[in-house]
Amino acid sequence: MNIRIAIQKSGRLNEDSLKILKEAGISIDNGKDQLKATARNFPMEVFYLRNGDIPQYLRDGVVDIAIIGENVLIEKGEGISIAEKLGFSKCKVSLAVPKSVTYTSVQDFHGKRIATSYPNTVKQYLDKHGVSADLHIINGSVEIAPNIGLADGICDIVSSGSTLFKNGLKEVEVMLKSEAVLAVSPKINDIRSGLLKKLQFRLQSVLRARE
Ligand code: PRP
Ligand code: MG
Repeated sequence: MNIRIAIQKSGRLNEDSLKILKEAGISIDNGKDQLKATARNFPMEVFYLRNGDIPQYLRDGVVDIAIIGENVLIEKGEGISIAEKLGFSKCKVSLAVPKSVTYTSVQDFHGKRIATSYPNTVKQYLDKHGVSADLHIINGSVEIAPNIGLADGICDIVSSGSTLFKNGLKEVEVMLKSEAVLAVSPKINDIRSGLLKKLQFRLQSVLRARE
């Protein structure tokens, strides 16, 4: 039996995910040409998937584990547990507004339009502060929204900060900090849990060596 792992097909996590597995002694093809691969030297099948689809695959038990951003689990990972924090792809999920706007507090978002791909995360944050705003859900290129008059502010991932900068925005609230994690399906079976233990053991020594 193989353990089935989901990895981001393309994007920021793809390369570093394959790299950490490789350092753990598991070599696999990168998924550029295929959506599924088998590891050469570990009982593992790899599925290359879109980030946002991975939580559902884990919940359904179609894959057993995944390397995914904690931010995605916070947004839509109910029922999925984290086995290991992996220390790479660190980022923040933040609120930002145009540079020219005078900002005092999160209350400033009251009654405003916010464009985001993270509606649950934003809503939870605003609710906590008693703020009600109008959320516009978009899947990518969120930072362009204020410039085209779609929103007053945005909530998105901030890594280097260069996307905010290029779009004339400034970060005003950091809602959460995130990094890549090893996530586990609630439906994983005993044999595969055993394989997960072996994988975790290897990943932990890679992480220790990186310190
Ligand atoms: C991600 C994210 C931010 C940006 C943050 O977008 O949505 O826009 O990276 O990184 P930075 O702070 O280093 O600029 P991505 O480039 O993946 O494109 P997308 O939003 O269209 O998916
Ligand atoms: Mg973006």
